[in-house]
Amino acid sequence: MRALILAVVMLALAGTVAGERAASGPLPRGYNGLAATPPMGWNNYNAYGLELTDRLIRETADRMVSSGMRDAGYVYVSLDDGWMASTRDANGNLRADPSRFPYGIAALAAYVHARGLKLGLYEDAGVKTCGGLPGSLGHESADAATFAAWGVDYLKYDNCYAAEGCGQYTCSAAGERERYAAMRDALLATGRPIVFSVCTWGTDTVWRWGAGYGNLWRTTADIQPTYDSMVSIFKQTVGLGGHAGPGGWNDPDMLEVGNGMSAIEDRTEITLWAAMAAPLIAGTDLVHADAATLALLTDPRVIAVDQDPLGVPARVVSSAQGHYVLERPLAGGDTAVVLFNETGAAATISAGLGSESAVTDLWNGTSAVTATIRADVPAHGAMLYRVGQS
Ligand code: GLA
Repeated sequence: MRALILAVVMLALAGTVAGERAASGPLPRGYNGLAATPPMGWNNYNAYGLELTDRLIRETADRMVSSGMRDAGYVYVSLDDGWMASTRDANGNLRADPSRFPYGIAALAAYVHARGLKLGLYEDAGVKTCGGLPGSLGHESADAATFAAWGVDYLKYDNCYAAEGCGQYTCSAAGERERYAAMRDALLATGRPIVFSVCTWGTDTVWRWGAGYGNLWRTTADIQPTYDSMVSIFKQTVGLGGHAGPGGWNDPDMLEVGNGMSAIEDRTEITLWAAMAAPLIAGTDLVHADAATLALLTDPRVIAVDQDPLGVPARVVSSAQGHYVLERPLAGGDTAVVLFNETGAAATISAGLGSESAVTDLWNGTSAVTATIRADVPAHGAMLYRVGQS
């Protein structure tokens, strides 16, 4: 009953403030107290595009529990573009597509919450979403209140159709910070903790200002399920680590693990994403995912690197001839080291450690005391080590 009253009050409030725009500038990193470590979860887009249904989300939530994904840390179950009806209701409020989500989003949120998961939703800082559905521009306060009343815990906020008269991707930089600040402030005003994902595809060097506007920001255009796409995004993002930290993270887009790359390439992706302290948002069909995919996604040692509380992303120590050495300082004084072989031929890659150190190979489980890590790394492969005092 309390929730119902709260919902009614919030929707009533929303009716009075719809259309108002906030104009505040950047807030301090960590402004909403969320995402102390990079968010982890699942989103339907990479596997299903805009084809999502209530049933898919419920089955995925169930599988996230039964497969161990939730307990490994993947708590956000997120609906991407395509969840809403093509028009707002008579009061100007967003509504779910009634045929795909016949029980509405609040019921879906309750289902997800009952399983110890959180619900993510998608909207757009323009007049239409990338898929052509109603955008939130000019409706920020009303829409944020709707999301909070429904029980939404995470909002991915896209950047298509940035203003009346703009095309899908044209003028996306127009008024960008103000448009994102408007939704950031509207979410804060609801009082509900809602992670804010800034999806501007790396426009306007978003990494320089993203932490004042959201908890994560996309650094590039959309990822594709190919090795070349994944490596290109890694290269565009790995040098931006100095801008990321607790509360605000570089987002090299959702994982393609399980979506068609080789087993070695899948392991490379999660290794590089963990090194970069990237959000780990699984993007595969979890209902039908095989054991190898689930084992890779839930590996506790790679997740521990990604979620390390120090929150300092890796830097590139060397990259000659496509043979990368990355180092990431970890809480407590350990260091994560990645050897990544970008090339199409197997290679021996070495990393000097300065002194004798205790080295654990996190993918193979072996340990040694050594002053140099040296490994035969397969084509497109990546090794991951934790280095501590000997
Ligand atoms: C943009 C985003 C994607 C996805 C689609 C949905 O391309 O970058 O991640 O949300 O829109 O239409």
